[in-house]
Amino acid sequence: MTHAERFTLEWLSQPADFKSQLIRDVRSGLIAKNRSLPSIYFYDDYGSELFEEITRLPEYYLTRAEAEILETHADNLIAAFRPVEMMEIGAGFARKTRILLDAMHTEGTGNCYVPVDVSDLALKHAGDSLTAAYPWLKVRAYVGDFLSDLHRVPRSGRRIVTFLGSTIGNLPPDERPRFLAEVAESLEPDDAFILGVDLVKDEATMVAAYSDAQGVSAAFNKNILTVINRHLGGDFPLDAFAHETRFEPDGMCMKQSLRALRDVTVHLTDIHLTVRISEGESIHTEWSCKFTKESVAAQLEAAGLTVAEILTDRQDRFALVVATR
Ligand code: SAH
Ligand code: AVI
Repeated sequence: MTHAERFTLEWLSQPADFKSQLIRDVRSGLIAKNRSLPSIYFYDDYGSELFEEITRLPEYYLTRAEAEILETHADNLIAAFRPVEMMEIGAGFARKTRILLDAMHTEGTGNCYVPVDVSDLALKHAGDSLTAAYPWLKVRAYVGDFLSDLHRVPRSGRRIVTFLGSTIGNLPPDERPRFLAEVAESLEPDDAFILGVDLVKDEATMVAAYSDAQGVSAAFNKNILTVINRHLGGDFPLDAFAHETRFEPDGMCMKQSLRALRDVTVHLTDIHLTVRISEGESIHTEWSCKFTKESVAAQLEAAGLTVAEILTDRQDRFALVVATR
């Protein structure tokens, strides 16, 4: 089999559904008193590439800390659960995933990788490069929204489900319980769930990770306006907004917003919507919530999961939580 024959890509829902969801989200988010936009809309092709750039920034410790944990524990995890397939939620370019795939191959447990992501660019990149690098690997990739489409992903045998990068922290906090309960329900008794979470730490370190000196985080944040302009015939002026990030201790979340630097009138011609935003007003664009070992364990247990292990990097910056049903 050629590497192209070992890679399939399917859509879990129709592009028209994505567009109508975008219209609903943008309309309700922009007319609300506290304006907001869901962070799924960061990830067009450019946004996905900007996130990859973020993972390499000196300030963005999350990716390196998680890779260190995976390097240390992947073999043991794979030997313990012996997955036939690995399903990865929000896989992106799947770089860290290679550590777990290497372990699956070494242990000879299975040869199937099932990434799910809203970004078809990221999935194509991941599928092409992984099947080229691993002649033994089959990749069945699915484009979809992990908040609504996970139950549509077919399984081929004992599974490890991974959700890396602390992307769980990007879910609006009130949507987390339902999402975790759905993941729990999807697991068979011998499956495992491996969840990467960023741990609460000193505020300066967390703030720096979302306000890097090169301005990549700011470009990533503003890209959500470009996506909306493109899909809805909008005229958001990017230069009228400033990237803002701050830590909210109550919910243990970093909160990213775009603050208007002057009064702005935005026209979204395709949906006949005009929005007036006053100088100083903010549009909330992203949660990046943080966890303690205790808080993440409690949330997984509340969803019906049993926490088997919590692994951390040497500096206790990041945790991989291993759970079963
Ligand atoms: N797991 C990778 C990528 C994290 S970036 C890592 O750890 O580095 C977050 C990823 O989740 C992006 O690839 C983005 O496209 C995807 N994503 C964000 N919201 C999503 C949603 N609602 N449904 C599906 N994918 C989503
Ligand atoms: C994907 N996710 C976990 C990143 C985070 O840290 O919340 C997205 C991101 N936003 C700004 N920088 C990185």
